[in-house]
Amino acid sequence: MRALCWHGKKDIRCDTVPDPKIEAPRDAIVKVTSCAICGSDLHLYDGFMPAMEAGDIMGHEFMGEVVEVGPENNKLAVGDRVVVPFTIVCGECDQCRRGYFSVCERSNRNKEMADKAFGHATAGLFGYSHLTGGYPGGQAEYVRVPYADVGPVKIPSGLTDEQVLFLGDIFPTGWQAVVQCDIEPSDTVAIWGCGPVGQFCIRSAILLGARQVVAIDNVPERLSMARAGGATTIDFEEESVVERLNDLTAGKGPEKCIDAVGMEAHATATLDSMYDRAKQAVMLETDRPHVLREMMYVCRPAGVLSVPGVYGGLLDKVPFGMVMNKSLTIRTGQTHVNRWTDDLLRRIEEGQIDPSFVITHRVALEDGPQMYKTFRDKQDGCVKVVLRP
Ligand SMILES: NC(=O)c1ccc[n+]([C@@H]2O[C@H](COP(=O)([O-])OP(=O)(O)OC[C@H]3O[C@@H](n4cnc5c(N)ncnc54)[C@H](O)[C@@H]3O)[C@@H](O)[C@H]2O)c1
Ligand SMILES: [Zn+2]
Ligand SMILES: [Zn+2]
Repeated sequence: MRALCWHGKKDIRCDTVPDPKIEAPRDAIVKVTSCAICGSDLHLYDGFMPAMEAGDIMGHEFMGEVVEVGPENNKLAVGDRVVVPFTIVCGECDQCRRGYFSVCERSNRNKEMADKAFGHATAGLFGYSHLTGGYPGGQAEYVRVPYADVGPVKIPSGLTDEQVLFLGDIFPTGWQAVVQCDIEPSDTVAIWGCGPVGQFCIRSAILLGARQVVAIDNVPERLSMARAGGATTIDFEEESVVERLNDLTAGKGPEKCIDAVGMEAHATATLDSMYDRAKQAVMLETDRPHVLREMMYVCRPAGVLSVPGVYGGLLDKVPFGMVMNKSLTIRTGQTHVNRWTDDLLRRIEEGQIDPSFVITHRVALEDGPQMYKTFRDKQDGCVKVVLRP
């Protein structure tokens, strides 16, 4: 089959690789009909995520048709149409039973390595680092889905791929980021990053009843998509983020702040961002926490910092004293995707939201390597890429 494979920093290739096979009785094989490139893929593409190996198959946002099921899979049948969440979940361990799916205790097959790196292993993820199991991903014609009697979401006929594809990642990710903020009707929610995740944070914050949503980025077409979704926008290259946020909140600061940027934050020439770039370049720091610092500074005391943006390792010069003294709450994590999928699928069916609004590029799998670059560099108005194997 054809698949997009990682071969090193900025080196994704469309390779011919062996077809996946059923390996365990609860597996299924899915023929991928649509898949997408996620902002998290960019951290692998840019070489910031540890424990990748040459030849790894990329992709964790995908859907398709079940073409084979293992003998103990009683949920799926050949021909079913499914969206596959990026988190691989067993459905039975203590964490899965509590709904903390992204920290499933069983699905990471590299448990020992992950225990050592993070203190505890977290769930297996498709198309990601070997710290999360090194499972082949879904930017491919076919994919093996482990524990396929738990994770995959069956899709009713009548909905297009483009309407439901993002149930596997960015829609629940934006949703969880906002739910974690415990929105109250008087809240201002400030969202850093108007990439695909930021766009779903904006729509979710509006659906969940925030008084005011403010979105921050420097890419014009992403800012206008944010305004179309109901946000007031700030271009961080044109104006002071802190001053504007204070102006918009009568000097109090936003009650809820969301980091939908993560470890590769850009900034105009601020002192802290130059410091990060220098330290990252000589490998003395893995991540650039500019957005976290800004959120800690501007958030109203007793507010919440919700962090769906991905961080990989060690952060430097993070003002934790501000967090403590201002009584801020930090909530973060890979998304517990299955916790939200039933509710969000219903909202799509009811027409509350059509997630396809975010798609700007539709291409063949073979065009994937070029599209990684287009998406990363925000060329050609690119916000979200869907690939059709
Ligand atoms: N927690 C999860 O489960 C989960 C799931 C999906 C994605 N993510 C993460 O969410 C983040 C965003 O993903 P995406 O797909 O939207 O990616 P993206 O890279 O397209 O979006 C990031 C956006 O942030 C903007 N940005 C950069 N620096 C900024 C700054 N200083 N202030 C404001 N905006 C800034 C960029 O211009 C870009 O538009 C990534 O870190 C990704 O890994 C997490
Ligand atoms: Zn993702
Ligand atoms: Zn589990």
